[in-house]
Amino acid sequence: MGLSYSFLRQTFPLEKTKFTIDDIPDLNGKVAIVTGGSTGIGKETVKGLLLHNAKVYILTRNKEKTEHAIAELKDLTGHEAQFVSCDLADLVSVKHAAEEFTSKEKELYILINNAGVLNPPIEQLTAQGYDLQLGTNALGHFYLTKLLLPTLLSTVNHSGHKVRVVNVSSVGHLFGTLDFDTFRDTPARRKLTPSAGYGQSKFANIVLAAEFTRRYSDQGIVTTSAHPGAIISEIFRHWHPVTAGIMGLFLSPPSMGALTPLYAATSPETENLGGKYFVPWARLGEPLKATQDPKLGQDFWEWCEEQVKDI
Ligand SMILES: NC(=O)c1ccc[n+]([C@@H]2O[C@H](COP(=O)([O-])OP(=O)(O)OC[C@H]3O[C@@H](n4cnc5c(N)ncnc54)[C@H](OP(=O)(O)O)[C@@H]3O)[C@@H](O)[C@H]2O)c1
Repeated sequence: MGLSYSFLRQTFPLEKTKFTIDDIPDLNGKVAIVTGGSTGIGKETVKGLLLHNAKVYILTRNKEKTEHAIAELKDLTGHEAQFVSCDLADLVSVKHAAEEFTSKEKELYILINNAGVLNPPIEQLTAQGYDLQLGTNALGHFYLTKLLLPTLLSTVNHSGHKVRVVNVSSVGHLFGTLDFDTFRDTPARRKLTPSAGYGQSKFANIVLAAEFTRRYSDQGIVTTSAHPGAIISEIFRHWHPVTAGIMGLFLSPPSMGALTPLYAATSPETENLGGKYFVPWARLGEPLKATQDPKLGQDFWEWCEEQVKDI
């Protein structure tokens, strides 16, 4: 299958979904985290979890916007999500968020690493000086997941059930690779197009899901990655309004975008599919083969570990 064909099939799926919000099992007593749950795909993901009685924490950087979303979701579902402040573009903030969460909860069944940025101006870096897309979409989520690992593992031990981690990736990973020279603000990074930077960060999401699986699947953590589909959302905020408007004509609503991450995070069908990559709507897909390279997974993991060790 060629790259363009894969891109088109994952962007505009021909098959109808076999998984709907109604297929989410009862999640009563289960605690979940969704990053970036204030809008778009994340907000619909939170809605699906709340409708099935999960206790949901939304980790975002904008309190007012998230509280507005929480109120709206309460009206729609009858359940109130909780806000924890977390700027994924600042590793110190990620650490504080994990500390706040673990001070409130002893268990975590579902972690959906959904927040993301697309094509911000090249000048924008994270608080610690990383490329904003790599830093937010991949490194920030790596650190969050690492800090929550003890809670995920003890949840498996206490409950006797597996727990799920989903990295929301993108079909854009098909055009990505990992060029370690571009992670910080180097001349090589300045030559990267914004789309290549996005593709790289989403490629990294899949590499990390595969590496987490190599390291933790035998301890009951099921880590997967998912492309949610081509979805109307605020992610196109850095595009020219006319381009974004034209694109909007071809995109699906956020409620459809939530289906594939929710399938990966909750369906009994995906419980034994750690390391896999899902595509719209809620079916198994094939990521770029290079994302599954164990050497690359180990190298990137070790690079991430090195960046967070003194935070
Ligand atoms: N929409 C698509 O077509 C599409 C396609 C493939 C993959 N995806 C992926 O799907 C995920 C959700 O995207 P979306 O389309 O729903 O985008 P969206 O509407 O822009 O929502 C992104 C969410 O991430 C949050 N966020 C961004 N930067 C953050 C940071 N530094 N710290 C904490 N939260 C941050 C945003 O909060 P603020 O409002 O504060 O910025 C927002 O809540 C992303 O990972 C994206 O890459 C989307």
